[in-house]
Amino acid sequence: MADATIEDYYVEDRTFAPSPDFAAAALASNRSLYDEAEADYEAFWARQARELLSWDRDFHSVLEWDLPFARWFIGGALNVSYNCLDRHVEAGQGNKIAFHWEGEPGDTLTITYADLLTEVSKFANVLKGLGLGAGDRVAIYMPMIPELPVAMLACTRIGVAHSVIFGGFSPDAIVDRCEDAEARLIITADAGYRRGAPSMLKPNVDTALSQGAASVEHVVVVNRCDTDVDMAEGRDLWWHDLMADASADCPPEPMDSEALLYLLYTSGTTAKPKGIMHTTGGYLTQVAFTHKYVFDLKPDTDVYWCAADIGWVTGHSYIVYGPLANGATSVIYEGTPDTPGRDRLWDIVERYGVTQLYTAPTAIRTFMKWGAQEPAKHDLSSLRVLGTVGEPINPEAWMWYHTNIGGEGCPIVDTWWQTETGSHMISPLPGVTTTKPGSATHPIPGVFAELVDDDGRPVERGGGYLTITRPWPSMLRGIWGDPERYRETYWSRFEGRYFAGDGAKVDDDGYLWLLGRVDDVMNISGHRISTTEVESALVDHAAVAEAAVVGAADDTTGQAIIGYVILRGSHDATDELGEEVRQHVATKLGPIARPKTVVLVPDLPKTRSGKIMRRLLRDVAEGRSLGDTTTLADQSVVDEIRTRAAESPQED
Ligand code: PRX
Repeated sequence: MADATIEDYYVEDRTFAPSPDFAAAALASNRSLYDEAEADYEAFWARQARELLSWDRDFHSVLEWDLPFARWFIGGALNVSYNCLDRHVEAGQGNKIAFHWEGEPGDTLTITYADLLTEVSKFANVLKGLGLGAGDRVAIYMPMIPELPVAMLACTRIGVAHSVIFGGFSPDAIVDRCEDAEARLIITADAGYRRGAPSMLKPNVDTALSQGAASVEHVVVVNRCDTDVDMAEGRDLWWHDLMADASADCPPEPMDSEALLYLLYTSGTTAKPKGIMHTTGGYLTQVAFTHKYVFDLKPDTDVYWCAADIGWVTGHSYIVYGPLANGATSVIYEGTPDTPGRDRLWDIVERYGVTQLYTAPTAIRTFMKWGAQEPAKHDLSSLRVLGTVGEPINPEAWMWYHTNIGGEGCPIVDTWWQTETGSHMISPLPGVTTTKPGSATHPIPGVFAELVDDDGRPVERGGGYLTITRPWPSMLRGIWGDPERYRETYWSRFEGRYFAGDGAKVDDDGYLWLLGRVDDVMNISGHRISTTEVESALVDHAAVAEAAVVGAADDTTGQAIIGYVILRGSHDATDELGEEVRQHVATKLGPIARPKTVVLVPDLPKTRSGKIMRRLLRDVAEGRSLGDTTTLADQSVVDEIRTRAAESPQED
């Protein structure tokens, strides 16, 4: 990474220190956690494990590190559902609200810790009644309804590992995941609400089971939407029938620290999804620690809301396990942010008095597109901390979030982590860290990151590959059924280091700036240019709402930058404006970053989880026929983009 980089052009000098009032009341307001972890990180994590969790049996050793295989809190035993439920009820918190659940059509449910414990115990008995126990895997394919966390926690109560499959996935994905995990059961619902109508789930399970997944013996079905679904005699069972007869007495089973807690499949670069393995003690320790300190959680007064889907790791760690382990009161929302209106999220924030909101940059940019008048309709003054996750946040979106949602008074925590890391790795602590818009700042206490160059040499300043240098409690323990692939994927590129697949830069003040996956880093005439920074410069133009950038093969320069841009509502898509936007990038980042073409488009191709499918944009840019588009949320978007691309002027 020695060649001139675009990072050299890009300087962000705005800083935001925690306000004195915020810092004075914050759980962490100085560097003591960092100092403690730096002095002895094993002792630091051991203290967190013992203080944040209740153990049935204490551990005798903190860490066994046989690179790349880690075991944390060895000899310890604990139960995750006990830590998330029973101990709060035993401490007199049974009537405390665990979840304010908000259904999309507007139906609501208030669930206390005592309610949740009863439901979880009953469903754990249902699972036992179906012959399931420690060592089994269960697939869960559900909408965002209360039965989803109940199902997950019931699994943990008796040592069954769950594998949650995002509700937007197809039957093929269900087959692949169930076969790989040899799941014995699928828990689903007839449908879930999405944009005002039932979105069917059970028929996808039926299709999947007609194609494969022979290990599945039963399907348990929640009746969410009262739709007509086929129930296969002997195989399919209604949730409400099973629960009607279930006992609420189900003692939690102490599990080994390293017992498999769950699998979560991520799509890698190859066709076969990887079953990321998370285990019990280390995972729960780090999610509880980060949920507490990164969001400055005050469980007695806060109403916390992670607006992600439980089908992704963000929902696992920061809707279910972290908040419940910490005895938080949270919001769960079933639907989309635009139903019934584009102020849906802000209405929920106002009604429940939400104090922490955790969402993704892509959502923030959508809110920008919809306009500041939507949040302005609501009183958002309850908010204290704002979080973002999932992709680099461009400074423009950061500032918009800060101004229009945070009222300029809420620290923003930009949290970098992955399915594989299990919990936050790089993030500000809101009472400690002075933030810069677009930077995830520093590793959290107890996590050690370093940038390296192509040869694995540490980079003190400038661009490099982000690596993690020491094991951490919630790290993946492997890829299900494929230890060699685990070693190869994460530990082979740089010796002795976990390579996350992300590029980053470190600035003069030692702040980390995530630049996206390294496969999204372009090489233009030998210069490294991050798609993220060009996107950031594009959306910095007043007329631009959202942008995606790809590097397309180019005979002369190796790669050329192609920008796809959605304009804000009041602007017309003229060639002049496209040219102005191109120039804006040159002004902002330097001439080498000026896109060859800016295509003004009405929409961008996104997966159902909201990630922009750059691969398709690259295919369009390079005039190739499109590869697999099955994960695309809206198929028609690409045709329109292709037409617009053919009509767009190009730089000579
Ligand atoms: O590229 C990074 C990006 O998301 C990837 C991980 O994706 P996934 O496993 O789906 O988990 C997403 C939720 C944790 C990372 O390799 N990413 C995640 N958070 C950030 C980010 N990139 C920049 N800044 C972030 N805060």
